[in-house]
Amino acid sequence: MNRFWWKESVVYQIYPKSFYDSNGDGIGDLQGIIAQIPYIDKLGVDIVWLNPIFQSPNDDNGYDISDYQAIDSDYGTMADFTELLDKLHEKNIRLVLDMVLNHTSDEHPWFQQARRSVDNPYRDFYIWKSGKEGNPPNNWTSFFGKSAWKYDELTQQFYLHIFSQKMPDLNWENPRLREKIYAMLRWWLEQGVDGFRLDSIGFLWKDPSFPDGSTECGGHALGEEHYVNQPKVHTYLQELHEEVFARYPDRVTMGELFMSTPQDVISFTGSTKKEIDLAIYFDILHIDMENHVWWSQRNWSLKELKKKVNTWQQSLHELGWCCQHFNSHDQPRSVSRFGDDKKYWYESASMLAVFLFTLEGTPFIFQGEEIGMTNPPFSAIEQYRDINTLNFYLEAKEKGRDLNQIMELIRFRSRDNSRTPLQWNHNLNAGFTSGQPWLEVNPDYLKINVDSQLKQKNSLFHFYRQLILVRKKHPALIYGSYVMIMEEDEEIFAYLRNWENKKYLVILNYSPYNTELKLPDFLNWETSELVISNYSFRQKDLFNNQLQPYEACVYLLKEN
Ligand code: GLC
Ligand code: CA
Repeated sequence: MNRFWWKESVVYQIYPKSFYDSNGDGIGDLQGIIAQIPYIDKLGVDIVWLNPIFQSPNDDNGYDISDYQAIDSDYGTMADFTELLDKLHEKNIRLVLDMVLNHTSDEHPWFQQARRSVDNPYRDFYIWKSGKEGNPPNNWTSFFGKSAWKYDELTQQFYLHIFSQKMPDLNWENPRLREKIYAMLRWWLEQGVDGFRLDSIGFLWKDPSFPDGSTECGGHALGEEHYVNQPKVHTYLQELHEEVFARYPDRVTMGELFMSTPQDVISFTGSTKKEIDLAIYFDILHIDMENHVWWSQRNWSLKELKKKVNTWQQSLHELGWCCQHFNSHDQPRSVSRFGDDKKYWYESASMLAVFLFTLEGTPFIFQGEEIGMTNPPFSAIEQYRDINTLNFYLEAKEKGRDLNQIMELIRFRSRDNSRTPLQWNHNLNAGFTSGQPWLEVNPDYLKINVDSQLKQKNSLFHFYRQLILVRKKHPALIYGSYVMIMEEDEEIFAYLRNWENKKYLVILNYSPYNTELKLPDFLNWETSELVISNYSFRQKDLFNNQLQPYEACVYLLKEN
């Protein structure tokens, strides 16, 4: 297997708006991140991925860019950015920017020009279709609800927006647009950034006949099957690679691939024609959704999860590469979602961490995950800020749906669950800001905060530090093959990672119960060495034994 620095790295995702506010306006900023570099360094991560920091009207918190080459004034200036980049580099931490190439803001000068007239030179930077108001060109819906087409009075045509109305989709068919994008990306690489996270990158190619979407497809939005990971998108990505990334071979590209299968990921990351390095995929995370429908909830079983993980691990091995993540700015907090954020908060959060760090793929930590932040107990819609959440609520209200049920779903799934300010200490606003935070702080900050976990030797923070070191010390956990064992067990998730004569055994009790462990006979135990465990009493004595609630341990097995 080819070794690459980005396979051996751990990524720390920073949502700048909620990380640390240096000037009291209630919004996190670049100087805030600079002030906290010692913290990031202490954790031991290798790459920082920053959510978009470019100039933006913030309809979707920066994913609606109005100038790709300017820093949003909420976050600071270009000088602040350069300072941040230099200071991270001094600590050997790389910086990856979040680049949105599928759409811009409607306030981007290109769109401002484009909407003026049908023959404006920028018209074809976007996707326009004729039609009568109230009767859009097809039935596609936006990821954020309602039609994906917005009628524009001035020229009496519709433009396409897969996300909000203020986020018109770019027309990648247009070579002039593509050239502008390549030049912009090269400019950032010249500034010294270490790579990009490429937002919604599988969406760039849309079926030019714009057929209606089928209601049977499920997924996030009607019409998806006509633009998600379509074969022709690879042509764009190959050109993008050739024109930009091939010239900077030491950088990394991480592509967000919604709705992708292992075969999709292989086609983007593993083909001989170079496209992207690493895929951000969601199939495993979406196990609690009905048919990938965002605003849904379903029960799932451990056996199902094992099957999915097994398929992904087996399929990608030596053929493609992906991230491993449970959290992001779009996902609810993992300890609340897949663990137990009450009784077994520490145990389940640390078990989930061991899981992520012992799979093939690059582990991503989302800010606050390392201290076990939880979903906030919001009760009113007024407490939410996310456009996706607010649109969903409004639409449900219009349709007369039961708003109590809707609020329950929002509490479970809203993207704001992970966007609450990082909890630094037990002071006012969890030490995030001296002003009024843009989104309420989770009241559990008195119990869960950075300060107390730094002081406590056996805190989750220190467990993450240890895990990061473990992964570096044992490359088998990065490159080894994955072999599932005890497939039928309904509480214990166990697997082996094998690499160059080394065999590791990972055991996770995915349940809140004491569980009996009956290992298969073929494992040789006598000489095993404990690599890490989330229960301090656990030594070499695992054998056939009782596992504690959410117990997780990793052993190095030695050949007889
Ligand atoms: C990606 C981002 C998400 C954003 C969307 C539109 O999925 O992660 O936050 O809303 O793209 O840019
Ligand atoms: Ca600020």
